[in-house]
Amino acid sequence: MIRVFENSRELARGAAEHFVALAPLTVALSGGSTPKVLYQLLADQFQTQLPWPRIQFFWSDERHVPPDHPDSNYRMAHEALLSRVPVPESNVHRVRSENPTAQEAADEYEKVMVPRLDLILLGLGTDGHTASIFPGSEVLHETKRLVAAPWVEKLNTYRITMTLPLLNNGASILFLVSGAEKAQIVKEVLEGPKKYPAQFVQPTNGELIWMLDKEAASQLSHG
Ligand code: 6PG
Repeated sequence: MIRVFENSRELARGAAEHFVALAPLTVALSGGSTPKVLYQLLADQFQTQLPWPRIQFFWSDERHVPPDHPDSNYRMAHEALLSRVPVPESNVHRVRSENPTAQEAADEYEKVMVPRLDLILLGLGTDGHTASIFPGSEVLHETKRLVAAPWVEKLNTYRITMTLPLLNNGASILFLVSGAEKAQIVKEVLEGPKKYPAQFVQPTNGELIWMLDKEAASQLSHG
């Protein structure tokens, strides 16, 4: 399902309403700039509508940096949302990305992972990556592991990411994409032949929702 919103603010509102309606007990948060607006909105305007102490939080991917680093996805979500709502610390399952190797962080993360998440938030990179599954990565072919630590050549770093078997087992997968710079890749991913990582996210027993703002949707044939 594809839903198009007037602007990034309305997109975040649509995502927040989906979140509340779903009342998920297990959620994977994503990094990147787009979901930050959603996290702030959930804390500011939807706080009373969710049973925070019952929700378990995970991350669909993480950078190989300590949790207080400016690039940390955990840090962003903590600042925008988790520090501002009554979620017990024991419900916050962050990647131990301060581990010296990303592989150790991924191994540890897999041990606390649940096999099926109620809600998985994802973004889309202009190169077609999602979570930290980048084009050409060997992690695209992963069939057993739930969490992996792929090398990302273009960023010259390791990342820790949920794999396709885990993502595709999600009950509700929500892509949030905004901005004109995403219009071309959105068109290719949603209307073109299958070649980008984001196109391999196809839940086997769940729903897949794409929420776009008008700019990101501007090149779609059936806007
Ligand atoms: C990350 C991500 C990544 C992100 C996309 C889109 O850690 O960077 O989880 O997959 O969702 O790169 O990011 P933007 O929303 O910032 O464009």
